[in-house]
Amino acid sequence: MKLRMLLVCAAALTGAAHAQSTPITMEAVEKGREQYHRTCAQCHGRNMVNSGTTVYDLRKFPTDQHERFVTSVMQGKGNMPSFKGAIDDSALQVLWAYVVTRGGKEL
Ligand code: HEC
Repeated sequence: MKLRMLLVCAAALTGAAHAQSTPITMEAVEKGREQYHRTCAQCHGRNMVNSGTTVYDLRKFPTDQHERFVTSVMQGKGNMPSFKGAIDDSALQVLWAYVVTRGGKEL
């Protein structure tokens, strides 16, 4: 049972990795962790942990929706401001690496 769940996760991650131009490495995840704690943690919570009632729980963000991630962060959504001009492409990529691996737990 446990093994099957692991396989499903691995398949989901492989799919996400394909949508990426660069492969997700632990180094990218670590950079993403730093970037996240500088610019996102004040709302989304340290290590992506928050109550999930008012702010989106990033640990649940669908790993196959890279485009949606980019659009939401760059254009803003609801009460989240746009990060256009504040976050460049490489920062966006490492943030995605951090979120899609659930903070490196699923790399
Ligand atoms: C000022 C508080 C705030 C900050 C800072 C913030 N967010 Fe958000 N974020 C929100 C809120 C509120 C939502 C829920 C938006 C909604 O669905 O109405 C959200 C939603 C999201 C979503 C889901 C959007 C969707 O498509 O449903 C993503 C992804 C996200 N944030 C990523 C980030 C990242 C990455 C950062 C750092 C660069 C960040 N956020 C910084 C408040 C914030």
